[in-house]
Amino acid sequence: MSYTFKITKIEKSGISNLDFNNIPFGKVFTDHMFVADFINGEWTNLEIKPVAPIPTHPGNMAWHYGQAIFEGMKATIDNSGNALLFRPEMHAERINKSAVRMSMPEIPHDLFLQAVHNLVDMEKSWIPPQAGSALYIRPFMYATDETIGVRSSETYKFIIFTMPVGPYYTNPVKLLAQDKYIRAVVGGVGEAKTAGNYAASLLPATMARKEGYDQVMWLDGVHKKYVQEIGTMNIFFVINDEIITPNLDGAILAGITRDSMLTLFRDQGYKVTERPISIDELIEAGKNGTLTEAFGSGTAAVIAPASHIKHNDDVVILDTDNRKYSKWAFDTINGIRNRTKEDKFNWIVPAEPYRN
Ligand code: COI
Repeated sequence: MSYTFKITKIEKSGISNLDFNNIPFGKVFTDHMFVADFINGEWTNLEIKPVAPIPTHPGNMAWHYGQAIFEGMKATIDNSGNALLFRPEMHAERINKSAVRMSMPEIPHDLFLQAVHNLVDMEKSWIPPQAGSALYIRPFMYATDETIGVRSSETYKFIIFTMPVGPYYTNPVKLLAQDKYIRAVVGGVGEAKTAGNYAASLLPATMARKEGYDQVMWLDGVHKKYVQEIGTMNIFFVINDEIITPNLDGAILAGITRDSMLTLFRDQGYKVTERPISIDELIEAGKNGTLTEAFGSGTAAVIAPASHIKHNDDVVILDTDNRKYSKWAFDTINGIRNRTKEDKFNWIVPAEPYRN
């Protein structure tokens, strides 16, 4: 189905203020955003307009009860100047899985994709060409009913804005596994990309930073034993030349970069296993030298090697200069994204405006 958007263009673009060689992650916004309202059971007021604050009533339900979900996608640019989306349909599917879990309305795939395509096409001059840089696309939805009773909202806003970004992590990450706080349990909302999961991670992340660590490596909420994810990324380990990542147990976000890496590793003939992996096994493998790499995968982070893993008094230090698998993963996914490597699985979709 094709949708009609009202389009209002900005009077003067802010792009002249952008230093393409020095883009901090998540601080620079492009000119336009897409906005839609869910009212009376349908998506309406579909509009692309200049980025601006959105006035919100203090009784807005999202502030109080947290019905808020989001996606993170990226657009890159090839040598011919085409804006390229990476697996956009998977993001359209995943936002709806989050919506269902958070008792929010689904977004028709065609609406989601048309909004992403049109907005990215409009903003494509903002896409940084450097390897590892991209246009980060943030689709999100939140409740807008103004009432204080605890129930599902009946109205929502769906917004997409975009930002030129450099790498999320510029150095190898130091990971701290701790037993005090948990991120998610099976049956909770760990699989949903919802704001509260990130809010819950902030205190432990601040505590980790005080100890000199960049991120918490979350353990399962029941046994406090099995590694789940990092919160900003999924996690992979290499032990005895086997690539291992925690299986999607219902509490872990189903990362699209994770899925892509599993496909690419398997296609390359590497040994890959999705299974529960305990922190004890990891520390032991770190001590006896069979753990040779650990790396996160995510849209924002792409592939981020880990240099340290700490749990209680044990610290494993990894040689990040000697990374066979994560380096191959980083080069391959970036190469597919800027069309310098074969896109064997047809993941790249040129961003093209839908003409109404
Ligand atoms: C992403 O990788 O796109 C994420 O959403 C993770 C983080 C920046 C919150």
